[in-house]
Amino acid sequence: MFNVRNKDFLTLMDWTPRQIEYLLDLAEDLKKAKYDGTEQQTLKGKEIVLIFEKASTRTRCAFQVGAQDQGAHITYLGPSGSHMGHKETAKDTARVLGGMYDGIEYRGFSQRTAETLAEYSGVPVWNGLTDEDHPTQVLADFLTAKEVLKKEYKDIKYAFVGDGQDNVSNALMIGAAKLGMSYHVVCPKELNPNQDLLDKCNAIAKETGAEIKVFNDVDEGVKGADVVYTDVWVSMGEPDSIWEQRIKLLKPYQVNSHVMQATQNPNAIFEHCLPAFHNDDTEVGKEIADKYGITEMEVTDEVFESKQSVVFREAENRMHTIKSVMVATLGEN
Ligand code: CP
Ligand code: NVA
Repeated sequence: MFNVRNKDFLTLMDWTPRQIEYLLDLAEDLKKAKYDGTEQQTLKGKEIVLIFEKASTRTRCAFQVGAQDQGAHITYLGPSGSHMGHKETAKDTARVLGGMYDGIEYRGFSQRTAETLAEYSGVPVWNGLTDEDHPTQVLADFLTAKEVLKKEYKDIKYAFVGDGQDNVSNALMIGAAKLGMSYHVVCPKELNPNQDLLDKCNAIAKETGAEIKVFNDVDEGVKGADVVYTDVWVSMGEPDSIWEQRIKLLKPYQVNSHVMQATQNPNAIFEHCLPAFHNDDTEVGKEIADKYGITEMEVTDEVFESKQSVVFREAENRMHTIKSVMVATLGEN
């Protein structure tokens, strides 16, 4: 078995293809064991702290349930729940928490903060989303695609349609490059992916046989895709003032039934990290609808609720995959 004990999980960039596949295989085993009632606890007595500077439903619950299933104890620190970043530096907080906890999850703004926590805490740090990256999300997305499409990872073709600079898209692009997959970012040219990240992913792709490409034309970009993926047009931490511009830029990139058909693949599935603006049945959705006259954003309700949509299986898989990351890096086998 791979020794990734005590390894931080800050970005898939730091993980080799074989290590990533190990996490995915372990997630499958843990999922099966939970379903069969044969799960063995490897985190008994471990203390885990979850730091959330931004809101969360899936990631928070996945860490909590995954850790509890494995016998660990959890402390949750919400957006106003600690001094970090207000009265105390991340470096000092890291050294405090490192003396009390066996593992730290961090969701927040800056990737640098995640790195500082890792550098100074002396315990594994897991990235639960930053402005730049969302590596735990990718594991769930890839596992879900494999389960539903019944294909090897390297044979799965992704088309991400929307904001090409989105943290989830960045993370998927890194993951796809590592696992030798095809990954198309389909976006307006104004939101093309960061060139430096693209260059890094293309360098990895040369080694792994992955195909990483950017398209500004939707039909061309999604053709042949197995998975059509999208995410919100405005991410947490971005200013509300950006909505108008994003709606204008991204409306032609809404995932609707035309886009699903343009894959020319009747077996194509739809993935989304969630939460999704597929109707205006939420407080924010209503505000946007009132202000800009748009009730569906990155995905139509029709596609979201269609048989092709695997978003809730994907959400469940957040828990199995996050559990796998914790077990691999902290578990006593
Ligand atoms: N997909 C995801 O990270 O969801 P939450 O923001 O609810 O954690
Ligand atoms: N891009 C989104 C992902 C949420 C899971 C955000 O950062 O808000």
